[in-house]
Amino acid sequence: MKKALITGVTGQDGSYLVELLLDKGYEVFGIKRRSSSFNTQRIDHIYKDKHLGDNNLHLIYGDVCDSLNISRIISEVQPDEIYNLAAQSHVAVSFETPEYTANADALGTLRILEAIKNSKREIKFYQASTSELYGGITAESLNEESLFTPRSPYAVAKLYSYWITVNYREAYNMFACNGILFNHESPRRGETFVTRKVTRGLARIFYGLDQNLYMGNLDASRDWGHAKDYVYAMWLMLQQEKPEDFCISTGIKTNIRDFIKLAASKMGFEIEFKGHGLEEVGYVSNIITNDSKLIKGQEIIKIDKAYFRPLEVNELVGDSSKAKEKLNWSPKISLEQICEEMVAQDMMIQQKLLKD
Ligand code: NAP
Ligand code: GDD
Repeated sequence: MKKALITGVTGQDGSYLVELLLDKGYEVFGIKRRSSSFNTQRIDHIYKDKHLGDNNLHLIYGDVCDSLNISRIISEVQPDEIYNLAAQSHVAVSFETPEYTANADALGTLRILEAIKNSKREIKFYQASTSELYGGITAESLNEESLFTPRSPYAVAKLYSYWITVNYREAYNMFACNGILFNHESPRRGETFVTRKVTRGLARIFYGLDQNLYMGNLDASRDWGHAKDYVYAMWLMLQQEKPEDFCISTGIKTNIRDFIKLAASKMGFEIEFKGHGLEEVGYVSNIITNDSKLIKGQEIIKIDKAYFRPLEVNELVGDSSKAKEKLNWSPKISLEQICEEMVAQDMMIQQKLLKD
């Protein structure tokens, strides 16, 4: 039985990766942070208490900011593969917590690579790199050869991790790969990332629990895929003969305004936008469903400058031809399907809140 160690196991990607690896017959060890209340909601449906029977998922307390703890876990678990998903992953928050972001997102990776090197074992390593490295300063489709121009403390920290992964691969002949993943979403996405903020926020307005949803820059566009498709690509990278870096994306970009319209249409109403800049509003232009508390003409989307970033990444769209050719990977789930899945879940949660 192969053993995998996942940092960031309680996050969106960690939860899908655990499901995939258990399905493939791995014994999985996940590092979770100590928290003052439960933080395992995304994996509770998989985790079985050891008193209730056999379990191939083991959770260990740890933090990528703690070298001693990382070294000890790696030497005790002796994994075949390590997936480093742990990070302060919110770009806007990184402007407010730049030092912590550098510690977790840059030095965290170094700590793991050093522990692998010192273990003298052949451990394959996956680093969660990001399309944020590109900074979105060109409109072209981005691939493994494109220039990195990071535009946030998060992206700068991740750039260090990208290069230290390449450096350890070349200097110590380690099997270490960067997955340069473009945005990927799911019903398990954190509530403050834009897609989930929209599906959750519109569901609350639909049921009359809120009146408005305050947003930032609606002109930005992203290349959105499904987290389930993307964790499969992570696993494929570690199953290759030699370690390489891969871009993972859908190749389709959508702007925030259009995602809002898509989410509304999945709920049975339409939104139009009027006005400009901070005065722009999104209003209900048509209602198809009978179940909502919405009123035609109601202004529900407003702009709050608090959600603008000191520097913006205006657009990102990826080219994953290399992954298609070498990994035989391509995305299976469309943005329409992702949005539908997210809307269905958020409608259910908000409807339940209303009844309670
Ligand atoms: P996420 O939902 O924010 O999950 C991040 C995980 O890291 C959580 O389990 C979190 O623990 C954990 N973590 C944070 N700081 C830590 C620390 N100091 N020590 C140990 N664990 C820590 O992020 P995600 O969307 O799953 O993304 C996974 C990784 O891929 C991240 O590195 C992210 O930067 C990168 N990435 C994501 C995307 C995307 O679109 N989702 C695209 C490219 C790259 P808590 O649950 O306790 O907070
Ligand atoms: N979060 C948020 N909230 N974003 C908003 C809002 C808002 O109210 N209004 C507009 N946006 C815009 C942001 O300015 C950004 O241009 C875009 O929506 C996407 O924001 P996020 O969903 O927060 O994601 P991100 O692209 O900044 O970062 C995500 O993807 C990266 C890969 O490209 C994160 O998952 C990163 O960890 C990941 O590396």
